[in-house]
Amino acid sequence: MSSEKFLDEKWIKKIDRETQHLIDRIGVDRKTLDEVFDKSTLLSIGKLISDRLIDYLDFPISTGKEANIFRGMTPNKKLVAVKIYRISTSTFKNISKYIEGDPRFRYIDRSRREIIYEWAKKEFKNLEILKNINVRAPTPIKRINNVLVMEYIGDTEKPAPLLKDVQLKDPKKIFNTLITFISTMYKKAGFVHADLSEYNILIHNNKPYIIDLSQGVLLEHPLSHEFLKRDIHNITRYFKKFNIKKDEKKLFQQIIQKKDIEDVNQQK
Ligand SMILES: Nc1ncnc2c1ncn2[C@@H]1O[C@H](COP(=O)(O)OP(=O)(O)OP(=O)(O)O)[C@@H](O)[C@H]1O
Ligand SMILES: [Mg+2]
Repeated sequence: MSSEKFLDEKWIKKIDRETQHLIDRIGVDRKTLDEVFDKSTLLSIGKLISDRLIDYLDFPISTGKEANIFRGMTPNKKLVAVKIYRISTSTFKNISKYIEGDPRFRYIDRSRREIIYEWAKKEFKNLEILKNINVRAPTPIKRINNVLVMEYIGDTEKPAPLLKDVQLKDPKKIFNTLITFISTMYKKAGFVHADLSEYNILIHNNKPYIIDLSQGVLLEHPLSHEFLKRDIHNITRYFKKFNIKKDEKKLFQQIIQKKDIEDVNQQK
């Protein structure tokens, strides 16, 4: 279907209405919304709507450094999470007014857009990898350009909180699970998250879910072992406050030698 089809007045109005609802309900400022919903992003959302993957965007869950996450509703009234990688950041917008319409600069916009699409594509693929090896993470549903639809983690009231904001019932169990996840990603998929910390783990029904996978790397990446060390460090550092102490270097060695990780409960 041609992209003109999606410039259809009807859904542009619909998105505009949704946008207005968002402004009214939670007071997101217009500038942020305009930055997120540039024309090409609107086209992608329109395609998701016309393909019936989503019906509407419900409310924003988070505004991160590179992306905005919205809660979305499917036509069957199921909740989904919609991650929109921003194409235009405010700084880029400031520059773009000088280069728009100048044919010498056309490639800048295109290459930037394409890099962002690649980034979203990578996150989608990484979510698929985790799905295939049973490491808990949102199930990827669909990606169109810079818009990624995935399983929503949380309940009807609110999205699942980040690990850093949760009073853990059984920190040892969560710690063991996370180390097992790191090890399974390495062993079964040759994959390293590369930005793992209490900020990129959700806790839902007392279980951890790994999120934010766009920067994940395969072992071929020259820095993969450095990233792995950092991931292990971040997790062991965080759990120290629960009196869980585990030797990071030993863990790293065990993981890269693909050995089984002993349970922290069995350590003295
Ligand atoms: N599938 C999901 N279900 C529920 N909430 C989610 C989901 N994915 C992300 N979130 C929420 O959105 C936030 C941002 O997501 P994510 O870390 O993937 O994006 P980001 O742009 O990298 O953000 P940041 O710059 O804050 O790291 C998360 O901290 C989490 O609260
Ligand atoms: Mg994040």
